[in-house]
Amino acid sequence: MMQQLEQSQILKVRDVIFRACGLWFNESKLPILSNRINTRLKESGISDLGKYLLVIASEDDRSELSTLINLVTTNETYFYRSNSQMDSFRKIILPEITDKKVAQNNRNLNIWSAGCSTGEEPYTLAICVLETLKFHSIWDIEILATDISTEVLARAFQGIYSKRSVENLPEEYLQKYFTPSDGNYAIRESIKKYVEFEYSNLTDSYFQKDFDIIFCRNVMIYFRDETKADILNRFYDSLKDGGYLFLGPTEMIRGLTDGFKMITLKDSVAFQKVPR
Ligand SMILES: C[S@@+](CC[C@H](N)C(=O)[O-])C[C@H]1O[C@@H](n2cnc3c(N)ncnc32)[C@H](O)[C@@H]1O
Repeated sequence: MMQQLEQSQILKVRDVIFRACGLWFNESKLPILSNRINTRLKESGISDLGKYLLVIASEDDRSELSTLINLVTTNETYFYRSNSQMDSFRKIILPEITDKKVAQNNRNLNIWSAGCSTGEEPYTLAICVLETLKFHSIWDIEILATDISTEVLARAFQGIYSKRSVENLPEEYLQKYFTPSDGNYAIRESIKKYVEFEYSNLTDSYFQKDFDIIFCRNVMIYFRDETKADILNRFYDSLKDGGYLFLGPTEMIRGLTDGFKMITLKDSVAFQKVPR
């Protein structure tokens, strides 16, 4: 049976989550939050929301807060999500960046998938890179994939995917880069070796530098504008000059930062770092 939770206490949980990871539940999303809290109260055996609040606010033990964050984050993802964006990345952006590097005799390529969920996005990027780069074995390719949810990171690292997760992927890539495994598909080591998974909270972690490209798709849609602006400015500092940022197809940056120029690709857009 669902417990009727007190609104003022739900709002306190909302604030703890917001301070911990930037996720913001606006009025319309509060019933979802309330459901999730109810689920967690039942699982944890703590029946009283006041007591639960003390547990998630504890500075000494962050484990319950981490479990709650795993429960409230939206992790939906799949291979080759937003095809037209992926096609433009593969056919336009990657050749532009790598041709420039070849001319400078530079064979390092650094990409970050921020908010990578269960790994479909960074593995898709690795597939695109291998499919695009001639003589990829002479390149030093690093794809950093980060997320705040420890649960999705564990699954990403395992690299086993359902039929549904791979159905948007061109058939030839499925044959080439996966091994069938009990009705699922296991990503091959030839792709896995390029992707490094790490825990990272976009709202409080130090960001690594010198990326050529950052993907942060469908992550900041759950954040408030101030949080988005802060992260976008830190992405700016993390990108090399002229580097590209890819956001989800409906996400825009106007009014949040002046550090990027919107580039129209075939049926999608990317944001290029410009000098300030
Ligand atoms: C909907 S998934 C997007 C996955 C992938 N980027 C895509 O577009 O298919 C959003 C991911 O962002 C992660 N996330 C949410 N808040 C975060 C934060 N503060 N720091 C890092 N990752 C976060 C969630 O855990 C979730 O896995």
